[in-house]
Formats: sequence, structure tokens, C-alpha cells
Amino acid sequence: MRAAQIGTLEGPEAIRIVDIPEPASDPGGVVVDVHAAGVAFPDVLMTRGLYQMKPEVPFVLGGELAGIVREAPHDAHVRAGDRVVALTLLGNAMAETAVVPAQMVFALPDNVSLEAGAGVLFNDLTVHFCLRTRGRLAAGETVLVHGAAGGIGTSTLRMAAALGAGRVVAVVSTEEKATVARANGATDVVSTDGWLHAVRELTDGRGVDIVLDPVGGNRFTDSIRCLAPAGRLLVVGFTAGDIPTVKVNRLLLNNVEVVGAAWGAWAMSHPGYLQQQWAEVEPLLVSGAIAPPDPVVYPLDKAAEAVASLDNRTATGKVVVALR
Ligand SMILES: NC(=O)c1ccc[n+]([C@@H]2O[C@H](COP(=O)([O-])OP(=O)(O)OC[C@H]3O[C@@H](n4cnc5c(N)ncnc54)[C@H](OP(=O)(O)O)[C@@H]3O)[C@@H](O)[C@H]2O)c1
Repeated sequence: MRAAQIGTLEGPEAIRIVDIPEPASDPGGVVVDVHAAGVAFPDVLMTRGLYQMKPEVPFVLGGELAGIVREAPHDAHVRAGDRVVALTLLGNAMAETAVVPAQMVFALPDNVSLEAGAGVLFNDLTVHFCLRTRGRLAAGETVLVHGAAGGIGTSTLRMAAALGAGRVVAVVSTEEKATVARANGATDVVSTDGWLHAVRELTDGRGVDIVLDPVGGNRFTDSIRCLAPAGRLLVVGFTAGDIPTVKVNRLLLNNVEVVGAAWGAWAMSHPGYLQQQWAEVEPLLVSGAIAPPDPVVYPLDKAAEAVASLDNRTATGKVVVALR
């Protein structure tokens, strides 16, 4: 089978398209003919050995996929021919065939294409975890998201209203990204330059109830300043590179919280959590309350370019790699 492989930890440009044997079948595993695989920022970090998970080289990239079941255990909830999405958490998704534990495979609704499906699980379940479980989003609250035109960002814009938010403010670095944020459901869009001032104006000085922050870096302290009383700042990632520090007097004085949100770690330590999440998200996709992602699709031969687009900050929306 063909696959996107990392042989040396030298960044996205080190990705090679290789011909390797299919993965060995596994008694509890579902064999999937992969149609598309999602690209996410952890893939960028893994190409440099900078992610918490460090497989030995060579390894195949990719944490999520969509495809058609070729073979499934007789007691599995899916069977041959089903359209599915699956989490590999992480590695092995950017290949023509994957073998995935049955509990990480989910039936894909008919109204979501395989390419869009490849962009659903990783970000949407992270955002659902952030807003529902860690952020305790209440009906009518205002959510602000940094990196709003990125994968996690567009997922937040697509989902927040369906999960109860009254207003969703997007922070983006370019006009092109502002257009993407609006198309994904932002109520308001502000530029990274002067964003705090703009958000204070938008909210009549009150601030927002939740900041979802996949970016970190030097905007972190302003994110705390931007919270309304009882607001929550969700720490999701550090695409800006620097890991910020918190002066806790700011939390005390303003009655606000900084909340860590590591979805993968939570899902691995809470059996059945992923299935509960999908049971809530899937009907919202079916009803259209949550629009499916509208991904930028690269062919497998261009997997290096696809991953590089997240690294060089040019990606907009979800990026996927088509295997078939
Ligand atoms: N906690 C969890 O459970 C969890 C789960 C999944 C992903 N994550 C993390 O969430 C973060 C976002 O992932 P993603 O897949 O959404 O990434 P993405 O699609 O590349 O989006 C990231 C956004 O970050 C902003 N950014 C600011 N400085 C940047 C820089 N120096 N380089 C690149 N981007 C920069 C960009 O927006 P602007 O240009 O508009 O600023 C970009 O759109 C990553 O850190 C990832 O590891 C965490």
C-alpha cells in the first residue's frame, strides 16, 4: 500500500510517499480502505519528534481517517461496506489501508462526505470536550477562539452555537482567514492586532465567558484580561511556540479560571467517553445543526505540502489528504 512516511525527524519536507506492506490484521481490529486522512498540528510536531508521542522512525503519519470497512470482527458495531471515520491517535492514518481497534471506529452519517469525514473526529471531539466537559459552556454564553481559521478554530466556529453559545468571536491574523472564519459561523471577527481592545468594545467592556486557546504565546495574558467574571480560559495548544506562564493574582482578582484541556488523555482515561461524545455530535451532524467541515484536500503525493501548510501558517480550515 502507499503511505506518507517520516524517515527522518526533519519536518514536513521529510515526508516521503512509500510503498509498504499493509498492516497485519488484528482479531479486535477493523480493516479500513482509507479514502482520506485528516491533517492536524500534532502531525507537524511529530515530523520533528516534538510531540509527546514519539514513535520510532520510520513511521506513517496521521491521527484520523475516513474510509470503507473491508473487514470487521463479527461482534463489531460496523461491517464490511460501511462508511466510517476512525481515530488512530496518532500515526498510521495516511495510508491506503489501516487496522483500527473497533472502539475507535464510528459510522459516518450519509450526509457527510468521506473527505469531510476525515476532518471531523479529531477537532470536533476536542472542541466538544473543551466546551462541554472542561469549559462548562452554558446557554447564551460568549465564546472567543484564537487561531479561528485553523482546524480547531473552524471546528469551534462550526460547533459552538449548536452546543449553546450565544456569540462566537473569532481572532485571526489575515483578511483571508477572516473570510474563512465568517464562512464557518463566526458572529464577530477581530484581527490579532489589537484584538483585546476590539473584543472589549464588542462586549461593552464585559469580556467573554470562554476563551478557547490553541495558540498560546504572547496573547495569553490578554486572554485572561479578556474574560468576564467567572470566565474560563481553555488551554488547548501552543501553535505560537512559547508556553505561557500565569500570574495567579489575575485569576484571584477577576474570579476567572485557566483550565487545561487535553482531549486525548481524557478519552484514554475515561472508557466509553469517545462513544458518548459521538452519540451527541453525530445527530447534530445529521440534522445539520453542525455543518460538516469543508476541507482543503491534497492528493497523497502532496502530503508534505499539506502538513507544511499548518507549519507555515497558510492553512485555512481543515486540511485533509486524499488516499483514493
Ligand atoms: N488539547 C487537545 O486535546 C488538542 C487536540 C487537538 C489539537 N490540539 C492543539 O491545538 C493546536 C491547533 O491545532 P490545529 O490542528 O487547529 O492547527 P492549525 O489548523 O494549524 O491552526 C492553528 C492556528 O494557530 C495560529 N497560529 C498562531 N501562530 C502560529 C504559528 N507560529 N504557526 C502556526 N500557526 C499559528 C494560526 O492562526 P492565525 O494565523 O490566524 O493566528 C493557525 O490558523 C495545536 O497546538 C494542537 O496541538 C490540542
